[in-house]
Amino acid sequence: MTRDHVKGDDELEEVLAQIRRDEWEKARDKVKVANARIKTHIYLEEEILFPHLKGPDLENWISELMMQHVAIWNLLDVILGLLEERNREIEGRLILLMQLLKAHNSIEEHSIYHELDKELAWNPDILYELRDSILPSHWKPKYM
Ligand SMILES: [Fe+2]
Ligand SMILES: [Fe+2]
Repeated sequence: MTRDHVKGDDELEEVLAQIRRDEWEKARDKVKVANARIKTHIYLEEEILFPHLKGPDLENWISELMMQHVAIWNLLDVILGLLEERNREIEGRLILLMQLLKAHNSIEEHSIYHELDKELAWNPDILYELRDSILPSHWKPKYM
């Protein structure tokens, strides 16, 4: 999952560079890849991983992270729309999304994923669930 964070960051970084070079077609393909990756990642966290974590402290973090998922999801939709219009405002939105993801991913990597590693040691079947899941087309973050 951490590797997914890094790939998503790299893809968005590339999109920003492509837009600055006016390569809108390439940027469009790349945004679609990043959009699918990040949304699937959110789905896996909310449906498969987070429900395994219990305890009041963790649950507070998880609510916070799930609110951030809504913001990330909405921003991705805005970015897809701006890209279709070839609207220059997309640059600012991409930068905002990268900042949001940076803060979000760092919380996950430093707290939540450690707890998940412990859980996985007891319950390795979670890995199969992760591998076999695909994002249902009408799924939305739970707090949306
Ligand atoms: Fe997340
Ligand atoms: Fe994540």
